[in-house]
Amino acid sequence: MRKLIRGGTVVTASDTYQADLLIEGEKIVAIGKDIDANGAEIIDVGGCYVFPGGIDPHTHLDMPFGGTVTADDFETGTRAAAFGGTTSIIDFCLSNKGQSLREAIAIWHEKARGKAAIDYGFHLMIAEANDQVLEELEYVVAEEGIVSLKVFMAYKNVLQADDETLFKTLIRAKELGALVQVHAENGDVIDYLTKRALAKGQTEPIYHALTRPPEAEGEATGRAAALTALADSQLYVVHVSCAQAVQQIAEAREKGWQVYGETCPQYLTLDVSYLDKPDFEGAKYVWSPPLREKWHQEVLWNALRSGILQTVGSDQCSFNFKGQKELGKGDFTKIPNGGPIIEDRFSVIYSEGVHKGRISLNQFVDVIATKAAKLFGMFPRKGTIAIGSDADLVIFDPEATRMLSAASHHMNVDYNPFEGMKVHGEVISVFLRGEYVIRDKQFVGRPGAGQFIKRMRFSRP
Ligand code: URP
Ligand code: ZN
Ligand code: ZN
Ligand code: ZN
Repeated sequence: MRKLIRGGTVVTASDTYQADLLIEGEKIVAIGKDIDANGAEIIDVGGCYVFPGGIDPHTHLDMPFGGTVTADDFETGTRAAAFGGTTSIIDFCLSNKGQSLREAIAIWHEKARGKAAIDYGFHLMIAEANDQVLEELEYVVAEEGIVSLKVFMAYKNVLQADDETLFKTLIRAKELGALVQVHAENGDVIDYLTKRALAKGQTEPIYHALTRPPEAEGEATGRAAALTALADSQLYVVHVSCAQAVQQIAEAREKGWQVYGETCPQYLTLDVSYLDKPDFEGAKYVWSPPLREKWHQEVLWNALRSGILQTVGSDQCSFNFKGQKELGKGDFTKIPNGGPIIEDRFSVIYSEGVHKGRISLNQFVDVIATKAAKLFGMFPRKGTIAIGSDADLVIFDPEATRMLSAASHHMNVDYNPFEGMKVHGEVISVFLRGEYVIRDKQFVGRPGAGQFIKRMRFSRP
């Protein structure tokens, strides 16, 4: 029942220090030097960092997209996340025009129930801000504890909403204490560029990137920020990929607007040249927004370091190369968008960020866990190591090195976008609310052990 995590280096978003942690039930109950075991199970973690469990604020598990469904569901996706040091995710619950929000949410609860091995919450997509939806949002926030609402500015004729919906959602979110999220790309412009490319016979994966220029992301980001200011509301821009969007977020924040941003490991480490790989392999690297020219990466790292961007999400959205990505052979618009990142988010950001000196150890914890907990209403229960917090912990060996590969990953998908990348640091054990999920690199968790997190209303971090 009680566990003593002994001899590690505790790392939070603000501090790094040697201490033991006493866990009782699901909570951390004591932190200090040389805590008396007093019958508790002793877990020696000398030489390791003790991090708060990673929080991945952006996943798509068991999600239909482009005529197929993601390769990872809540069972395989959350198990892989746990291997990688993530103990909570927030998944995107889709909805359709005309559908009641209760029904959309019930479908997503069904996807996760009995399957999730780690804790999870939902963001809710708003397809159309009609009177019924705006009314129902009160229930969504107050009863479901779903306090983040997603509006797509891209994927025309599929997921895209118009500016009226975005603006009404921003106003309602302000009233209810919710955070509005946008996929910021100008879907109308992209739709036109896409049709023009196809008409010219430009069908290869690289044209996915060339028809979604960074200006289309910068424009949508700036527009969303301006509407947020007009509504006196709060905005979180998901998967920021380029300098143009960073610039818009930086300017908005300088004006005092409540605009936050997330980037992803793929934008920080991979670039547009991957889409040119032969034998259709470029399809593995199709995300929206697309991978950019390499110079954008330094802008993104700087934005994380300086606090212009606050979080790193995986945007986990996995499709097999065989049979799924291949749907787009001969027409890049039919390549399902997204990739498998949920497992490697934590390690890639530690290795490329901390080990390479781009962000500090404490900034790492902030972007991988703490800021997401604060922005999405889970702090201090989650996202930090403190007395009274959930004992969601990652025991991490900073000296180990390993190679990322589809041959060794745990995601239910036939490739890894980071194939062959050497990373410094390794997750050894992971605790979820005081119980081992990963023990000495072995999964000992259980599908269904993860609980739905009802979150608190937005408050400015
Ligand atoms: O390419 C991506 N990002 N796929 C997932 C859906 C989304 O837009 O987040
Ligand atoms: Zn998106
Ligand atoms: Zn996404
Ligand atoms: Zn090292």
